[in-house]
Amino acid sequence: EKPFSQKNLVNLIGYDRDDILQILALALRLKTEKKAGIPHPLLAGRVMAMIFTKPSTRTRVSFETGLFQLGGHAMYISGGEMGLGTRETVYDVANVLGRMVDGIMIRTFAQADVEGLARHAGVPVINGLTDDFHPCQVLADMLTLYEQKGTLENLRLAYVGDGNNMANSLLLITSKLGVSLTLACPAGYEPKAEILELAKEAAKASGARIELTDDPRAAVSHADAVYTDTWASMGQEAEQEKRARIFAPYQVNGELMALAAKDAIFLHCLPAHRGLEVTDEVMDSPGSRVFEEAENRLHAQKAVMALLMGQG
Ligand code: CP
Ligand code: NVA
Repeated sequence: EKPFSQKNLVNLIGYDRDDILQILALALRLKTEKKAGIPHPLLAGRVMAMIFTKPSTRTRVSFETGLFQLGGHAMYISGGEMGLGTRETVYDVANVLGRMVDGIMIRTFAQADVEGLARHAGVPVINGLTDDFHPCQVLADMLTLYEQKGTLENLRLAYVGDGNNMANSLLLITSKLGVSLTLACPAGYEPKAEILELAKEAAKASGARIELTDDPRAAVSHADAVYTDTWASMGQEAEQEKRARIFAPYQVNGELMALAAKDAIFLHCLPAHRGLEVTDEVMDSPGSRVFEEAENRLHAQKAVMALLMGQG
């Protein structure tokens, strides 16, 4: 098998199309093997530390289950207890963990902390969500799109809502893979300008169309898949009410979904706030693929771990 050209998964910026397709291909293989009961102990004896300074269901369970299925062991560390950056510096934690474990997964607020760990740990570091990016999620999302539509060519994805970590990561991955993406975000809640620029640049090579509007109806029009996320991300709890007012016109409901392509699917990274960014009607509709998407976190991250931690 071709060696993987990446050392870490911090934000996908340095990844090219082939790197991403290599992950997706291995994810599909591991998924098929798992369903057929074929064991794949690619990381036997390997240990990964998982640092969480924000809550999680999917990320924790998929990494822990996934590494166990690969023959290794994942260790949950509560960020509060570890005191990353308070009890001890990121530099010191990186040096200590790097001497004991074979990989580190971290979910936290500051992207700089993930990059600091990656610089100093000497073992692969995986971003399990920061305020800015959620690369593992969008790998699972592209896997889901591929499975559901049979291709990633000429697909149109609409993202409706907050220009947050999900929006930034979707911009990076779709533009590299050639999936067209239209984001509809209210003024003042757009994705990062430099990420939008990077995506537009990558889209020139891949043929994707990358667009930003404030009109959810225009974004969803004829889309093959409609994606949304919470209006108030982890850490923004104090803004919940204000955001609920601003984002109300961006709710993904039956009326909005009716503007998408006939066979359009609905995606959401979850957790969903039913009745806010999405209605029950859409979450529970025949086109909803949110649980297939959640399951794919497991398969996509097993591929990421196998490629990053299986080398050397
Ligand atoms: N989508 C996702 O990352 O879910 P958790 O926050 O539950 O890990
Ligand atoms: N934007 C959300 C994603 C949760 C998986 C958050 O950061 O809370």
